[in-house]
Amino acid sequence: MRSSRSPRRLVASLIAVPLLLAAAPATATAARAQIAAVSSTVASEFAVDVIAHRGSSGVAPENTSAAIKAAVQQDADFVEIDVQRSKDGRLVNFHDCTLVRTTDVEERFPGRPSYRVSDFTWAELRTLDAGSWFHPDFAGERIISVGDVIKQVDGKTGLLAEISPCGHYEGLPADLDAELRSIPGYVDEALAAGELAVQSFEVDDAKAFKTLQPRIPIGLLDADRPTEAELVELSGWADQVNPQWTVTDSALVARVHQLGMDINVWTVNEPGTMRRVDDLGVDGIITDFPQSLTNR
Ligand code: G3P
Ligand code: CA
Repeated sequence: MRSSRSPRRLVASLIAVPLLLAAAPATATAARAQIAAVSSTVASEFAVDVIAHRGSSGVAPENTSAAIKAAVQQDADFVEIDVQRSKDGRLVNFHDCTLVRTTDVEERFPGRPSYRVSDFTWAELRTLDAGSWFHPDFAGERIISVGDVIKQVDGKTGLLAEISPCGHYEGLPADLDAELRSIPGYVDEALAAGELAVQSFEVDDAKAFKTLQPRIPIGLLDADRPTEAELVELSGWADQVNPQWTVTDSALVARVHQLGMDINVWTVNEPGTMRRVDDLGVDGIITDFPQSLTNR
């Protein structure tokens, strides 16, 4: 799913700066020359897609417009989002199955029997404050729709849309397919730029989406290490295997590549771990802190 807009992301900043500090050049000009030289060396050796998890969710409230704006500014290759559906059918970008952790829903709608995203209309969801829980500076940030996300990223960065695993939904793959088709030219242009992919923890949802949109790369998320049998089965229809970084090693990366798929690992927030998984040869790093990889 390599983006052609920003090909082969470099883990230069993490690696080059410590080397430069150790070398201690005599002048600023010499330092800049050394930075350029080291960065160029690193550029040929290290490459990875930077995927902003729920937007740049380390610096702004997850899945809001502010988090996506930060990811674009930080030059992330992809923004990862979570697709759910409101009571009246709007596709919304929200991670948790309920609204409680990251909004003021309990104060605004006290006594509701359920606080699931799918129990609220789009109009109700739009009244919620999805920013104050993160920091007072983000008070008033709103829940946004998948359509809003696409308007924000279209032509600027890639989109990795996760079909929510919240178990009570029916038909989310078809709804996401319809949403993507409703935006004239988006799918064709995003695919031409290598800037669109979909992922899911649910095999059935991933397969259903792949049937509807065979051209869009599809990934299967996995918290556990996929078995050999699972990998072989996946290679028959999936384009990506996206495991938790803790279960990822060089043998897994090599086997996924041998089977013709990409591998994107989540959720990697420590610079040392970013360097280790990059060394394994993964194709993408899903992170709350894309700026640690892009140095923007
Ligand atoms: O993209 C990987 C990651 O998003 C999967 O976990 O729970 O953050 O959606 P989660
Ligand atoms: Ca996700």
